[in-house]
Amino acid sequence: MRVVAVMNYKGGVGKTTLTANLGAVAASRGLRVLLIDLDPQTNLTFSFYSIDEWHHQLKDTGRTIKRWYEDELPGRETSLADLVVTPGRVNTVLGDTGGCVDLISSHLGLIDIDLELAARLGGATTLEGSKRKFLDLHGCLRRALANGQFAGYDLVLIDCAPNFGLVTKTAIVASEQVLVPAKADYLSTLGLEYLVGNLTTLVEQFNDYVHHKGGDQGHRPIAPGLLGVVFTMVQIYSQQVVLAQHTYIEEVRLNSQVPVLDSKIRNSPRHFGDAGESGVPAMLRAAGRDEVVREFDQLADEVLGALGLKPGEHR
Ligand SMILES: Nc1ncnc2c1ncn2[C@@H]1O[C@H](COP(=O)(O)OP(=O)(O)O)[C@@H](O)[C@H]1O
Ligand SMILES: [Mg+2]
Repeated sequence: MRVVAVMNYKGGVGKTTLTANLGAVAASRGLRVLLIDLDPQTNLTFSFYSIDEWHHQLKDTGRTIKRWYEDELPGRETSLADLVVTPGRVNTVLGDTGGCVDLISSHLGLIDIDLELAARLGGATTLEGSKRKFLDLHGCLRRALANGQFAGYDLVLIDCAPNFGLVTKTAIVASEQVLVPAKADYLSTLGLEYLVGNLTTLVEQFNDYVHHKGGDQGHRPIAPGLLGVVFTMVQIYSQQVVLAQHTYIEEVRLNSQVPVLDSKIRNSPRHFGDAGESGVPAMLRAAGRDEVVREFDQLADEVLGALGLKPGEHR
């Protein structure tokens, strides 16, 4: 099982679209995929369920991630595996590919949970206690995903909120790799170094506490890799990336420590304009192999290749 966090501080950069479609393409290649929606905006969930379905089938039955994080220590009362649902429409389309897409849905109230978790972090009275609490809280999702109930998944993709709050940090700690969708503009590229700096700080702090305290609590050091930046919503003109965006992409590629994936996803309102309504990601709905389908295929090749999840090699 490979766990990848999809994150960026910025909203509207294509995180959710990428998570849903990459997950769907991976499943169409026969992989068993679990998507986890950790954004209170709940857009990933609404890519597979209508608002009505979410209310009746997920929220009212307590099958959202909010309930899990609500526990004094996340996962103490609620089992993460009990929250997994199998969205109908996308899996019907996947048919007999051998792959599947499961989901753990989000909840708008997750935004308050982030603050509550941060408050719990401050509750310990001794330095040792506070280190242990830090590890238990930050490591909660990692610990839950290590449960054998998730061993059947080849790939877990976590769609993070556009912030670096505690819930996002639990996703980073749980992940082997981090994938960063970004737009090729000045502000987006400016934020990338900062993001990498914060990732590094989190990893160092977690591992420092593990070495000084938490090894005895079952926590192990983490080393999430930076899979890289995927540029999304790229403007293509005459088969080429427009010059201004090309300049930003090259700037990141040549002058930053952040790896840049070769694959890019172009701006295509035709494909992604009606996000969610059909319950089936655009890449599984597209008729024929147009250029956007090819771009997502290339992205899947690149990401799954880097994760060692090539077809036929993953089990
Ligand atoms: N490649 C693309 N071309 C055109 N529109 C896109 C593309 N990717 C995403 N979008 C649209 O842009 C908006 C933001 O995308 P989304 O994936 O929700 O971003 P994020 O999760 O980072 O906030 C959505 O309306 C989505 O449908
Ligand atoms: Mg989103």
